[in-house]
Amino acid sequence: MKTLITGGTVVNATGRGAADVLIDGETIVALLQPGSTALGVDLTSTVDRVIDATGKYVIPGGIDAHTHMEMPFGGTFASDTFETGTTAAAWGGTTTIVDFVVQYPHENPVDQYALWHQKAAGNCAVDYAFHQILSDVQDSSLHAMDELIAEGVTSFKLFMAYKGVFLSDDGQILRAMQKASDNGAMIMMHAENGSVIDTLVQQHVARGETSPYHHGVSRPWQAEEEATHRAIMLADLTGAPLYIVHVSAKQAAEQIAQARDRGQNVFGETCPQYLYLSLEDHLGASSAQWGDFEGAKYVCSTPLRSKHEGHQHQMWNSLRTNDLQLVSTDHCPFCMKDQKEMGVGDFSKIPNGIGSVEHRMDLLYQGVVTGEISLERWVEICCTTPARMFGMYGQKGVLAPGADADVVIYDPDGHTSIGVGKTHHMAMDYSAWEGFEVDGHVDTVLSRGSVVVDGGLFLGRAGHGQYVKRGLSQYLI
Ligand code: URP
Ligand code: ZN
Ligand code: ZN
Ligand code: ZN
Repeated sequence: MKTLITGGTVVNATGRGAADVLIDGETIVALLQPGSTALGVDLTSTVDRVIDATGKYVIPGGIDAHTHMEMPFGGTFASDTFETGTTAAAWGGTTTIVDFVVQYPHENPVDQYALWHQKAAGNCAVDYAFHQILSDVQDSSLHAMDELIAEGVTSFKLFMAYKGVFLSDDGQILRAMQKASDNGAMIMMHAENGSVIDTLVQQHVARGETSPYHHGVSRPWQAEEEATHRAIMLADLTGAPLYIVHVSAKQAAEQIAQARDRGQNVFGETCPQYLYLSLEDHLGASSAQWGDFEGAKYVCSTPLRSKHEGHQHQMWNSLRTNDLQLVSTDHCPFCMKDQKEMGVGDFSKIPNGIGSVEHRMDLLYQGVVTGEISLERWVEICCTTPARMFGMYGQKGVLAPGADADVVIYDPDGHTSIGVGKTHHMAMDYSAWEGFEVDGHVDTVLSRGSVVVDGGLFLGRAGHGQYVKRGLSQYLI
């Protein structure tokens, strides 16, 4: 099956230009001068399918490098399965997700990796890869890191928070980093000082301050800055590359910037919620239906920050200056009914997470509309850098001959009502993005040459998505 996408403006991280995209089967075979001929014959007559992209942007499929489908967490499971979550991703122009294999203490990381393959195989609408979470770092975990790299799992997430669940102490972190320095793995860090947070949480709850707003104030920016700094120092000591996940505090972003200025392999992501939502307006929200429990919709960690402290401004600035390299969603959806509701009367029992996998491309495109980032930078932070950072570049993240034909046709003159009512496709009974009306629209999405979304219809299928065996990071200094 040969497809020609004609008339569009092809946008890669490196630049834009008018070009037609020729696809053969699952692969891009050429970018051509618009209206090119082959041996004097109009190319459109030699292909099986022509997609007209006149007036539209043609960009690489989005890569969401941080999702948690079906994650067992907080006494329940994230509400999106691999099927519903990857279908929602496709709707929003994301054609690859990197999900986290979970290892709780005393579980074997390699067994868990096999289990995650069972959950995902045959169920994904778009391609998928895995990072591995390590909780208690044992000798066996260090061996597992070598084994998993051979399987294409080249990044390992450690936690400085969630004591008794995920937290690794500094010695354990050090050992995992020493291993990563040795075998080339990327260490991903949930950087919050868990002991400080646990104490503050107990104090708030004991004072009867139990609403979701107090989730935010019990996880102050100082706890994020301190842990980010500590992680950077341990990475420096060991020589391991370090990627800080879900950065929300401006002070944490500054720590990352300083480490990068020193020449360290330190990277960071932020998420749409830290660009748009706040402690006051969202964690502190109330509604007729939920009262002040409305804020539970926005409970995630790191938490939403105060709108008065310049955090959102710093996130955009860091994205512009490449002190933060990319935007992932940390998609970890829970319904209000029965799931978030577990924390009525005690915010610490609200399962942590927000669902956004469907909306990342549109939400970040608003940065182009408002002049925060360039069109090319949008593609870079949403598509290209995730591929390079996590060892998929060439196959993913770029429109070029030889790459998988993961393509999004994006209409800059279109309009999207994000997450409103039942119009989103994530398995959630609410949306954190309810009411967001934005410029731009995902018109057509191809995953490895197959049209999976077009003209408001989902044309894909569970099982089309394949496992992406990743290499080592292609982003290191
Ligand atoms: O609130 C969050 N972020 N939930 C998902 C787990 C994690 O820490 O990334
Ligand atoms: Zn985390
Ligand atoms: Zn996460
Ligand atoms: Zn449209």
